[in-house]
Amino acid sequence: MNTFYIIGTGPGDPELITVKGLRTMEKCATLVAPKAKVNGDSTALGIVKGLLNLDDKKVVEVCFPMHKVNNGRSSREVEAAWQEAARLILDHLKEGDVAFPTLGDPAVYSTGFYVYATLKEMAPDMEIKIIPGITAMSCCSAMGNQPLCLGGEVLAVVPATFDDDRLRAILANCDSVVLMKVHTVLPRLLGLLDELGLTKRAVCYEQCGMAGEKVHSDLRQLVGRELHYFSTIIIRK
Ligand SMILES: C[S@@+](CC[C@H](N)C(=O)[O-])C[C@H]1O[C@@H](n2cnc3c(N)ncnc32)[C@H](O)[C@@H]1O
Repeated sequence: MNTFYIIGTGPGDPELITVKGLRTMEKCATLVAPKAKVNGDSTALGIVKGLLNLDDKKVVEVCFPMHKVNNGRSSREVEAAWQEAARLILDHLKEGDVAFPTLGDPAVYSTGFYVYATLKEMAPDMEIKIIPGITAMSCCSAMGNQPLCLGGEVLAVVPATFDDDRLRAILANCDSVVLMKVHTVLPRLLGLLDELGLTKRAVCYEQCGMAGEKVHSDLRQLVGRELHYFSTIIIRK
């Protein structure tokens, strides 16, 4: 039986993909790349494209709608996408190894592990290997020359889409907080950070390691501005 690899591509800069991730993709017969919109491009595929010779490979892009997955519950549409991807992967595994490149690291808010679980349900004995990647938060912290956590500090990594009470408790109890998926909730977030006196401790990293990368150290300047989906805020008290 051939092997299915879930491979972290890092956050955007092709030089931040691991040697192991790249070498593994080189030996795979098929790349199955996730994307969020039917007519859009796969960001993960875009990162690795220039580094790989794709002439002798099959490249299949699969659309995973970006619906919320909460407490293990998910929408039918999202589950159908995981199942379709799993069937397609099993099909391509008959011809050779298959790679699933995914943005950042597969262990952090990635579709990769939903595909993993779906495949394991369909074919419990199949071999799946995970190759880690550099997370977006690691790239952001490096870009800002600031650590995520030191010594006895507590770090929380959460989606900014949590409700205010939940975010308030996390911000109150942790020394560093990484807020992901901030782009749709920025005005609400700014209100909350102001209320907690944390606005000055927050830095927003937009498209870190990508062509349009920006660092916003004064969050108030973001009022009325649209942020890219690839934006992360780090609050370090
Ligand atoms: C579905 S999560 C993917 C996280 C990814 N698996 C990781 O390891 O970082 C998408 C969120 O990651 C963050 N993100 C991903 N790439 C980014 C980048 N290049 N710059 C800033 N934030 C990024 C944003 O908060 C975005 O909303």
